Amino acid sequence: MLGFIGQEAMHAASHDGVLDHFVEQGLDVRPFVRQVEFVFEGLLGDRDLTGDRARAWLFERICIIAAIEHFTGVLGDWILNAGALDEAGADPTMMDLLRWHGAEEVEHRHVAHDLYMHLDGSYANRLRAMAETITALAALWQRGHRFLMARDPVVRGRIKGGLHHLRRTGPAGLTPDGRMVAASVRRYLRRSYSPLHEGSTAQAVAYLASSPAARAALR
Ligand SMILES: [Fe+2]
Ligand SMILES: [Fe+2]
Repeated sequence: MLGFIGQEAMHAASHDGVLDHFVEQGLDVRPFVRQVEFVFEGLLGDRDLTGDRARAWLFERICIIAAIEHFTGVLGDWILNAGALDEAGADPTMMDLLRWHGAEEVEHRHVAHDLYMHLDGSYANRLRAMAETITALAALWQRGHRFLMARDPVVRGRIKGGLHHLRRTGPAGLTPDGRMVAASVRRYLRRSYSPLHEGSTAQAVAYLASSPAARAALR
């Protein structure tokens, strides 16, 4: 858990760095970031509870984090293997940042789930947390894509944002394929689900050892 918290804290710092970079480049992402923070504050924020209710809310939040980590692990595995993005000329520094982040997500993908199964493990709660997580992530993806396409100084609204773009970019390997994500959710819904069956720890660790961003940070 300590390693997991440390990695996610590093991610938060690197997200801030990327967001600052976007703002410097004329893409002011702050209005959308505020929406994301509002959703996550509602989904995961502290509440004024004590005793059994505080404990139940803690378990609930760990269960939601386990569901979110399912997606970050699956998407991390996807970005590690998304060769079509390199071929399409994606910015190599941004690709390295995404892959470094994705590799760490793959590396720690089982931590929140294992903790939840150890503390509570209720299957009904897992179903509910997954339903809430899918709803929140789909809404944020939709809004985020619309926001970026409308504000991007290069695109300037020429591409209409939303979720429908996934139907074209998914099969082309430029965004995660919806069917791949849906199949992973079906696996999550099995009682025998283990995050360790999603993605490869060996591949993730190998990427972390070779990532230019990770090596620069170590220096
Ligand atoms: Fe992360
Ligand atoms: Fe994570």
